[in-house]
Amino acid sequence: MKLTLPTSALFLLSSAHHTLAWGTLGHETVAFIAQNFVAADTQVFFSSILQDTSPQYLAKVATWADSFRYTAAGKFSAPFHFIDAEDSPPDSCGVKYARDCGKSGCVVGAILNYTSQLLDSSLDQATINVAAKFLGDIHQPLHDEGLDRGGNSIAVTFGGVATNLHHIWDTNMPEKLVGGYSLDDAQRWANNLTAEIQTGVYVDEAKSWLEGVDIADPVTTSLRWAEETNKYVCTTVLPTGKDGVENQELSGDYYEAAVPVIQLQIARAGYRLARWLDLIAVGVRTEL
Ligand SMILES: *[C@@H]1O[C@H](CO)[C@@H](O)[C@H](O)[C@H]1NC(C)=O
Ligand SMILES: *[C@@H]1O[C@H](CO)[C@@H](O)[C@H](O)[C@H]1NC(C)=O
Repeated sequence: MKLTLPTSALFLLSSAHHTLAWGTLGHETVAFIAQNFVAADTQVFFSSILQDTSPQYLAKVATWADSFRYTAAGKFSAPFHFIDAEDSPPDSCGVKYARDCGKSGCVVGAILNYTSQLLDSSLDQATINVAAKFLGDIHQPLHDEGLDRGGNSIAVTFGGVATNLHHIWDTNMPEKLVGGYSLDDAQRWANNLTAEIQTGVYVDEAKSWLEGVDIADPVTTSLRWAEETNKYVCTTVLPTGKDGVENQELSGDYYEAAVPVIQLQIARAGYRLARWLDLIAVGVRTEL
């Protein structure tokens, strides 16, 4: 087992950026949900690799990959956060690996890549962080959409502030829902969604979220997640096409319609990340 990046470097990088890809809040929430569901052995295992036995061992490093992509060393990883589906919302949605995963890579390829590395026991902090991160990103609908650079080029306003469609899905809408973006806010949101999974609105469906999860086939597994997520581009992100959102104020009805999808996708991402980490921990321990 090699530890290639010192913890201090990780934390330095983690604090550099705050507004990228599901945003800090979304990623920390996904990590906290995963922490709530992993097996006790998995927690011990990853706390040890991350050299952090605190109750935030995963959440504290959950946004590391977002900063890494903006460093010289990490530039190659920028395409690993998304897969640009060349579909045509709102009429037709769909993700195809061969068509949509560019030659510089994509989130599905990255999940394959980093899962294989983890199972090969080349466990290091960086690899764990990026693996966890990409699993979260694939659940954000506009990370599975090619149109206008995943909505980055679609100008909108939110609460009177000029921004873009991608950004409000990553950041503005989750933060409005939760009322902040601190680690405590993420913990609170995660505990709420955890309760919804255990005994609330998701109790009947949560088991189905793990259908088709196969650690030996990360491409089929993560494509299934991308397909499922990309459908929301047609139903919720762009229900009446680009014209319905461009230069519009989206903090009203649009936001209200988006909230159930955001909650569901964060819950699914956290629950699936827990299972993925369990499978990696078991797989690696069996090999050692
Ligand atoms: C796999 O990961 C390595 C190391 O981080 C990276 O250099 C390579 O480009 C990645 N390949 C894909 C297909 O993501
Ligand atoms: C989650 O939070 C919402 C909004 O505050 C609340 O209505 C709901 O009851 C909470 N769910 C659980 C299971 O605590």
